[in-house]
Amino acid sequence: MRILFIALVIFIGFGFKIKSSDRSASTYSSRSIEELLDKMSLEQKIGQMCQLQGTEGNITKEYLKRIRQGKLGSILNEKDPEVIRQLQKVAIEESVHGIPLLFARDIIHGYKTIFPINIGMAASFNPELVREAASAAALEAYSNGIRWNFGPMVDISRDPRWGRMAEGFGEDPYLVGRLGLAFHLGFTGPDPRKPYMATCAKHFAGYGATEGGRDYNTVSLSDEELYNVHLKPFKLLIDEGISSVMTSFSELNGQPPTGSPWLLSQVLREEFGFEGLVVSDWNSVPEMINHGFAENEKDAAKKAIRAGLDMEMASGTFQQYLEELLEEGRITEADIDRSVRRVLQLKMKLGLFEKPYAQRNAFTNEKAAEHLALAKEMAVQSMVMLKNENNSLPLDVSINHVCVVGPMAHDRYEQLGTWIFDGDTNLSITPLMAFEEYLGHERVHYVKGLKNSRDWGKDQFEEALQAAERSDVILFFAGEESIITGEAHSRAHLGLPGAQEELIKFLSATNKPLILIIMTPRPLAIGTVSEYADALIYAWHPGTMAGPAILDVITGLRSPSGKLPVSFPHTAGQIPVYYAQKNTGRPPTKHSWTHIDDIPQRSFQTSIGNTSHYLDVGFEPLFPFGFGLSYTNFSYSEIQVSQDKYQALDTVVLRASVCNTGDLEGAEIVQLYIRDVVASVTRPVRQLKGFERIHLKAGECREVEFRLSMKDLGFYNIANDFVTEPGLFHAWIGGSSKADLKASFYLKE
Ligand code: GLC
Repeated sequence: MRILFIALVIFIGFGFKIKSSDRSASTYSSRSIEELLDKMSLEQKIGQMCQLQGTEGNITKEYLKRIRQGKLGSILNEKDPEVIRQLQKVAIEESVHGIPLLFARDIIHGYKTIFPINIGMAASFNPELVREAASAAALEAYSNGIRWNFGPMVDISRDPRWGRMAEGFGEDPYLVGRLGLAFHLGFTGPDPRKPYMATCAKHFAGYGATEGGRDYNTVSLSDEELYNVHLKPFKLLIDEGISSVMTSFSELNGQPPTGSPWLLSQVLREEFGFEGLVVSDWNSVPEMINHGFAENEKDAAKKAIRAGLDMEMASGTFQQYLEELLEEGRITEADIDRSVRRVLQLKMKLGLFEKPYAQRNAFTNEKAAEHLALAKEMAVQSMVMLKNENNSLPLDVSINHVCVVGPMAHDRYEQLGTWIFDGDTNLSITPLMAFEEYLGHERVHYVKGLKNSRDWGKDQFEEALQAAERSDVILFFAGEESIITGEAHSRAHLGLPGAQEELIKFLSATNKPLILIIMTPRPLAIGTVSEYADALIYAWHPGTMAGPAILDVITGLRSPSGKLPVSFPHTAGQIPVYYAQKNTGRPPTKHSWTHIDDIPQRSFQTSIGNTSHYLDVGFEPLFPFGFGLSYTNFSYSEIQVSQDKYQALDTVVLRASVCNTGDLEGAEIVQLYIRDVVASVTRPVRQLKGFERIHLKAGECREVEFRLSMKDLGFYNIANDFVTEPGLFHAWIGGSSKADLKASFYLKE
């Protein structure tokens, strides 16, 4: 019987040699990775571990030859769907094993239809809407043949100087985790075991804590902060089965993640149980030479594969040196097979062996219209109103003439923000276009005022003043152009660039109501400039539908409902200023410090308050995490806390009553914060542990309930064990991280 069995296996084995034309989809359904591995040459195995930049419209013989030889596993940034199809056809029909290529792209906040930049989507505090936006982007990309998205970016970013704060979901691990998961599910679809599109948790790990907010720089984090803050969203996504993880450019505690066995093997594989694929960020393998961690490219390749890197993006050290390193016995074939298995598993999970080609007609015109409506809704829910004096907003419908001014008022490209490789600017509707459509051209007086957001010129100031004089209200669209945000674009000064602030001040002298709408993907130091405005709305980079969304909010058709996913500093010198700070041994209070201008001369050394603060800006942010105004008001009362069992789990239940005390209906994002007052490692003064978006009519009240499991109250202790410790907890429920409706509870042993 045994002989018979072996014969059977050999027959099936040779079966793979059949010409591709005779292959049927069913051949692949029984294909096992081990059998495929046995058939592959070493060169072909190494090829699967290589990802190259797309052809950029120039398919060379060398490129095609490499695909025919099965020496390429994945291509990123191939733009043209026909080229994608052509290259895939070569891989399937002309390579010896017909292993399909995996086409990858950065689909960060939309593909053709651009949604608000991620920090803006975070301000919606709406996971379901984020999932829908991601799902829309996935459909658009899938129809072009893209099957692997390099997202979600779940770096915790607490430093607005870092340009990449733009593409994440803010400063809080809980919010970043909830929204990163929603983004992931939007791309994978309901069954992560059969993802519609593969996703990638990036950048592993701690990248958002890059020194001084300077990109690509050193990261030094204690285990306590690394595990309790920066790794939390990654752990959540890994537990939810994300397909891949990308290593970061920076170095973490002395080792570049791309070559760190501690991070990629011990933490990622052993502690977190990740079984997916690890891909390097662009060129980060050879960059280990710059870091001073590898002698040369061959050494970098060895360190990367030994650490646990499976696929090398863009650079060619795997292609060039793995075979040599194997021959020298410095790596093993098992190292290579382990990675190749993960690449093949991902391709099989995506169904690429059965359906390697794009479904070109998936993105219909009807879908395109739906996606634009979704992009508008997300832009509306992303907007955060930070100031509204004398109810300057919503605009009074009797308003006759509107002055639209500022570098961001009418720029179809800049309103999309960074990371919009495939964004279609022809779809963009700018604020100027929307207001002219709504009021008519003759009632809108537009002057750009500055050539761009960085322009220092004042040659348009007078013309802008005349337009303002002819108007009833000034709508000033300020912000940062795309190119001074995002990757590699860190800023030390956080004011509005160029002469924007001067122009705003100049126009405020008209004493006309001035509405300031700021379009940028990071908190700016806008304390002074906001004083010139009667109302202030942070619209982030709102994407394709910026105009219609801003129009609806400014005119009151929709009420602003967004909340800040990041704390705003008074000035760059105040960074870091995130809300979940530790209490310290000398916590500041409103009355425990004296402003530098108010200190009596020759005050005695200890007379002005020895607490942790700045003499010139104090200790409070300009605007706190979770803050955002509405056209109505909400009150919180009757907080209750109880402990019971929910699904057999010990659970803490917290409730409060929320009322809309204003005259207009509105949406409120109710937030729950807790504090573990005493623990074996100090815990933050507040941590977001729940949020819920509710819609209340004028005068309506509703009870909101949150349930916390013991795990929700846990943390990594000094030994890196995840624990929940007994003791006193405080809880707050309210409309921002400054919520003052408080209850306490005691967890028993
Ligand atoms: C970039 C980014 C990374 C992106 C990759 C591919 O440099 O750091 O987020 O996914 O390269 O474009």
